[in-house]
Amino acid sequence: MAQQEYTYEIIEKIANYYLRKLVTVKPQIGIICGSGLSSVGELLTTPTTLNYTEIPHFPVSTVIGHPGRLLFGHIAATPVICFQGRFHFYEGNSLSTCAMPARLMKLLGVTTLIVSNAAGSINSSYKTGDIMFIKDHINMLGLAGNNPLRGPNDERFGPRFVALNEGYNPKIIEKARALVEKLGLKGVHEGVYACIGGPNFETVAEVRALKILGADAVGMSTVHEIIAARHCGMECFGFSLITNECVVEYGCKEKPDGEEVLEVAGQKKRDLKVFVEGLVVLLASDL
Ligand code: HPA
Repeated sequence: MAQQEYTYEIIEKIANYYLRKLVTVKPQIGIICGSGLSSVGELLTTPTTLNYTEIPHFPVSTVIGHPGRLLFGHIAATPVICFQGRFHFYEGNSLSTCAMPARLMKLLGVTTLIVSNAAGSINSSYKTGDIMFIKDHINMLGLAGNNPLRGPNDERFGPRFVALNEGYNPKIIEKARALVEKLGLKGVHEGVYACIGGPNFETVAEVRALKILGADAVGMSTVHEIIAARHCGMECFGFSLITNECVVEYGCKEKPDGEEVLEVAGQKKRDLKVFVEGLVVLLASDL
């Protein structure tokens, strides 16, 4: 089991180890790949690759579709760090572990974070294979008091209380919107992501409840990383790939499953790579 609390000192140790290995370049943009979305890592030119298992104090990634590799390289001349595999609460990780990648990136010099995930759609106008830019989130774990920032606050990361009303940077969303237009990508939405603990998919009643609350899509990740990233002052952009439509009717025989998630992610690989590459180029002009 991974370290339960990732303190500043432990994350600093990881950063120092990492920097010792890769002395030359400082990443400016960080990417966390969601389930089945690790192909985004292929965008990095001549990457240096570290397996999570070889990095001291690092948790392991136990989910299929999360290879468990840290990549460092460039996307169109911009230095980038890319997590191929994230840490989920349902794997038994503490929220501090789930949030650690964001804090590590901060200590490595990253100022802008791009996160992706696979999600089920709640909004009935969304289709499998669509993309949703996350404009806001509903953190079901957080509303119940489970938050990666819970416990003593370390001011070296950020202040005790954090505003999240612009958790997902509106200016980056605007750039992403323009990019989608330019690339001619279809089926792209902006919506609210609800995070549940998982690993079970939602019941029909839960999907209906989330819909009433205002969620457009639901998944089991991302929000902990965004909270930690905002706490330490990073600008964030997140998107969901809709890999299945949530079941909202009793008697429906369709069942979401992990394989479907990976299959849809595989089909959208090309579009997502083109999109992320374009976004990095646009963001780099502001760094
Ligand atoms: N629910 C929760 N998480 C998910 C889903 C879903 O329907 N699809 C992909 N991740």
